Amino acid sequence: MKVELTINRRKGIFEVEPNELLINLLREKIRLTGTKYGCGIGMCGACTVLLDGEPVLACLTLAVDADGGEVETIEGVAREGKLDDLQEAFLEEGAVQCGYCTPGFIMTAKALLNENPSPSEDEIRGYLKGNYCRCTGYVNIIKAVQRAAEKRKRIGKQEI
Ligand code: FES
Ligand code: FES
Repeated sequence: MKVELTINRRKGIFEVEPNELLINLLREKIRLTGTKYGCGIGMCGACTVLLDGEPVLACLTLAVDADGGEVETIEGVAREGKLDDLQEAFLEEGAVQCGYCTPGFIMTAKALLNENPSPSEDEIRGYLKGNYCRCTGYVNIIKAVQRAAEKRKRIGKQEI
């Protein structure tokens, strides 16, 4: 089957199997390996990407169900060689250790801040509850999201 997708602002037509998962299309066919495969059963959040601005689990999403949509992966977050506010905040807060969970956290946090630019700590924890990290203990990840939200407020940015 053919699907038409805009991936990281580039439109393309891709040949997929009817049961092919979005994560396989991204990682294996297009070699966008920033999206991570963790559990494969919707439990860890490592495979989170944005589909039409909403966070989805690429390990549970059929590529055909994304047909006509806009997909954003971690590779599309930096613009013109510059990290975005969330990526910078994760580095500044030491929220990255092994880094395996980081793309999923950043994509989920990006959706959160676009939806709710000033989330409380509880709201951040609630929104990120589907993303697991085995290294950091979450504290620095929460701080990184708060830091990015504060920066966004300071500079009056609408979307990150
Ligand atoms: S790999 Fe998709 S949720 Fe774990
Ligand atoms: S930084 Fe290693 S799993 Fe999160």
